[in-house]
Amino acid sequence: MDVKIYEYDAVIVGAGLAGLAAAKELTEAGKKTAVITKLHPLRSHSGAAQGGINAALGAEDSTELHEFDTVKGSDYLADQDAVELMCTKAPETIRWLEHMGAAFSRDDKGDIAIRPFGGQSKPRACYAKDRTGLSVLQAIYEQAFRAGIEVFDEWYVADLIYKDGKVSGVSAYDIRNSKPAIFNAKVTLFATGGHGRAFRFNSNAHANTGDSLSIVARHGLPLEDMEFVQFHPSGLGGSGILISEAARGEGGRLFNSEGERFMSKYAPNAMELASRDVVSRAIMEEVRQGRGVGKEGQSVNIDLTHLDPEIILTRLPELRELAIAFQGQDMLKEPIHISATAHYSMGGIPTNINCQVRKNTKELVEGFYAAGECSCVSVHGANRLGANSLLEATFFGRHAGQSMVKALDEGVELRPATVEDAQPMLDELNRVKRGNGKERVADLRIELQNGMTANAGVFRTKESLEKQIKIIDDLLVRYKDIRIDDKSNTFNTDLQEGLELGHMLEFSKFIVVGALEREESRGAHYREDFPTRNDEKYMKHTYAYMDKDFNITTEWGDVVLGKFEPMERKY
Ligand code: FUM
Repeated sequence: MDVKIYEYDAVIVGAGLAGLAAAKELTEAGKKTAVITKLHPLRSHSGAAQGGINAALGAEDSTELHEFDTVKGSDYLADQDAVELMCTKAPETIRWLEHMGAAFSRDDKGDIAIRPFGGQSKPRACYAKDRTGLSVLQAIYEQAFRAGIEVFDEWYVADLIYKDGKVSGVSAYDIRNSKPAIFNAKVTLFATGGHGRAFRFNSNAHANTGDSLSIVARHGLPLEDMEFVQFHPSGLGGSGILISEAARGEGGRLFNSEGERFMSKYAPNAMELASRDVVSRAIMEEVRQGRGVGKEGQSVNIDLTHLDPEIILTRLPELRELAIAFQGQDMLKEPIHISATAHYSMGGIPTNINCQVRKNTKELVEGFYAAGECSCVSVHGANRLGANSLLEATFFGRHAGQSMVKALDEGVELRPATVEDAQPMLDELNRVKRGNGKERVADLRIELQNGMTANAGVFRTKESLEKQIKIIDDLLVRYKDIRIDDKSNTFNTDLQEGLELGHMLEFSKFIVVGALEREESRGAHYREDFPTRNDEKYMKHTYAYMDKDFNITTEWGDVVLGKFEPMERKY
């Protein structure tokens, strides 16, 4: 089969905020850059972020307070040097976005409007109604496009070209016609977003299947802190679709089936605006204790009916529409049903503060960078604060682009790729496409998702996690016997879903093994059999490695501490 070889200075995989911000920097610096993405950039999941992007712009706020809230929210697992960098650069990042045309909402004085979000000492989430991600994504896309970025959309990246500690691009195929190609590059960035689709009840786009994680892991490179998965407190009861934290930021209150405003028991000071891990556990505890509402009592109520309708209509219009469309509930008139939904992954591809990928706890991979949700830099530690995700993606995406420009200016040789470098991808495509077995991809995926939500969700135990490892190991065996009906080369989504399932099974095992080995509770990782935080033993990052038989081994990496001493978190 013909394999075309493209040559670039830089290749970026993913075209959400992080990928586009990096691409803009590289292109403006005159570097020949390709952006490769499964979707059109404007369909990236960054556009689904609703409530805001954090920056200490308020009169009483400070970047140091933003740092403190982020570190406290992370349950002290975040690297404090990276947190300091991100929070001090947040105001400049907002101005950068605004100058590019991001249409932020305004307050009475005409300044950028800010709203309270969970775990924050001061209101800090700058917003564009409840469509902040979309507004920011459009602005970056327009300006990156204007700078002349070259986009290969509807291309599927299936492998990394990695040899002798150095990355020199990726292998990919065009989803339109299945034609394979190599994108040979001096520097490569993964900015592929999240992997929440591993869970049955999630707020993520269909594309968020975490392909890049296992692509990296298949080369023996580590994934970091994968056990930390954020469950957002408010997913629509039936579907998991996001109802932004902005609903609570604007004054929404949570009630159980007995009409009790239950957060007073779990976070008497912060109430509904405690950090996400605390609120999600409170919701699921109410459900477990039989005080849920809605179908099978699996939800609680969020009530906004006491608010001035003008607030809902002007600041939360999309949330209202979503709840009407998907649940037939109008928040102007009645409470709506919500439940904790898998939302965000704190872990991912480990990087240093300049977004260079780590080979292990000590060494870096040459020519390889990661930014945004697929990476672990680590600014979120064990739990991310709401509205720090858009900030991380934008700031570290841009920062990665600048680091790559610097590396290129200092001189990076292109290691020429050959068509043989595409062979592993071609073998995988053939194997999956020729699959004539008895297992259906959708069935295996649902079994994985159901198991992850039930056994590795908000509450975890040794038994539930061991059960989930068995489920995944069994699914990995059955995966070899899948059947793909569509054997064509044109927009073969059957093939793509088959490939994605392989990735989901593999990175899910990292989540579960990490959760089993971390015998403590910290941030979003809650072990009922080890309900307290254990700094002495586990104030460490998890680095996990996979072998060819999907066995996973772990080692511990140091957390970068700083001015904030670990304390007990109280909200
Ligand atoms: O609730 C939200 O609007 C989500 C924001 C975030 O995850 O940062």
